[in-house]
Amino acid sequence: MDLSTSTALVTGANRGFGRALAAELLSRGATVYAGARNPEQVDLPGAKPIALDITDPASIAAAAEATGDVTVLVNNAGSSTGADLLAADLDDIRLEMDTHYIGTLSVVRAFEPQITANGGGAILNVLSGLSWVSFPDFGAYCAAKSAEWSLTNALRLQLADRGIRVAGLHVGYMDTDMVRAVDAPKSDPTDIARIAVDGIAAGAYEIVADDASRQAQAALAGGVSVLYPMLP
Ligand SMILES: NC(=O)c1ccc[n+]([C@@H]2O[C@H](COP(=O)([O-])OP(=O)(O)OC[C@H]3O[C@@H](n4cnc5c(N)ncnc54)[C@H](OP(=O)(O)O)[C@@H]3O)[C@@H](O)[C@H]2O)c1
Repeated sequence: MDLSTSTALVTGANRGFGRALAAELLSRGATVYAGARNPEQVDLPGAKPIALDITDPASIAAAAEATGDVTVLVNNAGSSTGADLLAADLDDIRLEMDTHYIGTLSVVRAFEPQITANGGGAILNVLSGLSWVSFPDFGAYCAAKSAEWSLTNALRLQLADRGIRVAGLHVGYMDTDMVRAVDAPKSDPTDIARIAVDGIAAGAYEIVADDASRQAQAALAGGVSVLYPMLP
């Protein structure tokens, strides 16, 4: 699709990967709404800050009401509580699902009518290699990213005949606040944003952006013994 004539909304665009995505879309000539819980934190020249908390139905409705011209929706906003599934507070586990799953879905439901009314477009959900493989230390995040992958697949089918291409981006560690404490190789979010926006422009349904995600995707076919070789 021609991004230079598109209007994009990016959730969580005030920092991290969302900011990199918004900057990349701006560089392609798109009009960009930078969604943020605190829009005064948006520091991208040319972007249009807009208040948007994806776990607050009133905030989502207000953002949809305030726009009308969106053709590209990028669901980037995400939480990472580090909650495991057995011992962590259930409120943290709910937050992961409320953000990645219910939040993303709520934003799609609010903005799909205007994308359809504008002749169709694209939705990109920022998923993870952890949509495909889980680690117990942050099992709640992995479960939420798997749920978000599943909704991406269903919505892709449901929205195809409305001219909306629904894509999922799978990526491993990127150098943002979310994984500041992780000591492992990380991609530059700017590089991944370029790959993601190339994918939107090309009409891709699935964007697998790094080796870690490609390995997770390949391991799926091998079943549990390949995905989880540490099992006794
Ligand atoms: N970093 C990685 O290694 C990695 C890898 C794979 C996938 N991802 C995914 O990439 C996306 C972006 O993550 P990131 O690495 O950029 O994380 P980050 O640096 O922690 O940024 C998270 C962003 O999401 C926003 N956010 C959180 N909850 C929100 C809500 N309820 N409503 C609106 N905005 C909300 C935050 O806003 P505030 O500033 O208001 O908190 C912030 O802008 C997430 O979906 C994450 O799961 C990240």
